[in-house]
Amino acid sequence: MSAPQPPGVERVLFTEEQILERIPQVGAEISARYRGRELKLIGVLKGSFFFLTALARAIAIPVKIDFLAISSFANRTTAPGMVRIAKDLDESIEGEDVLLVEDIVDTGFTARYLLQTLAGRGPNSLAICTLLDRTASRIVQVPVEFRCFEIPDRFVIGFGLDYKQLYRNLGHVAVMKPD
Ligand code: IMP
Ligand code: MG
Repeated sequence: MSAPQPPGVERVLFTEEQILERIPQVGAEISARYRGRELKLIGVLKGSFFFLTALARAIAIPVKIDFLAISSFANRTTAPGMVRIAKDLDESIEGEDVLLVEDIVDTGFTARYLLQTLAGRGPNSLAICTLLDRTASRIVQVPVEFRCFEIPDRFVIGFGLDYKQLYRNLGHVAVMKPD
C-alpha cells in the first residue's frame, strides 16, 4: 500500500481489496442463513455506514434498511459502558428478522445495550454482523453471528471507523500508533 497515510498511522491492517473481497463472503453467509425471508439491516451510525452499503449489495435476499445512532460517549477513550440512543429507528421492527450492522464490537457494551433494547420491540429474530471484532478487549459477552475480520487489541481507523471523527472515508483499515 503506497498511498500516503494520515499522521499517526502505523500500518495498514486490511487493504481495500481485502475488505471488498471478504464482505461478499459474509453477504453470502447471510443470504444462506435467511434464505426465503426478508431481512432488516440496522446500521449503527456513523461507523457502520460504509460497511452497510457494501454489505447490503452483497446480500441476495430482499433487505430493508434503517439506522440508529448512539451517543459519542460510547467509545473506549471516554466512558466505556455508557451508551444511549441519540437517533432512533424510523420504523418498527416487530415481527421482522433484524441484523444489527456494526463497524466494530470492542468491549461489547454497545452491542449488548442495542440487543437488549431492540429485543424489547418484538423482532422475529435479532443478530449482529460486524466488520471488525476485537474479542481480546471484550468486557461483556455478546453473540456475534457474522464477522468479517478479527483484529488485535490496537486502535484502528478507516472504512467507517474514526479517530476524532476523521478518517472514516479511508478505503482500508489502518492501525494507529500508540499515543
Ligand atoms: P464497544 O466498546 O464494543 O461498546 O464499542 C464502542 C464503539 O467504540 C464502537 O462502535 C466504535 O464506534 C468505537 N470503537 C471501538 N474501538 C475502536 C477503534 O479501534 N477505532 C475506532 N472506533 C472504535
Ligand atoms: Mg460505532
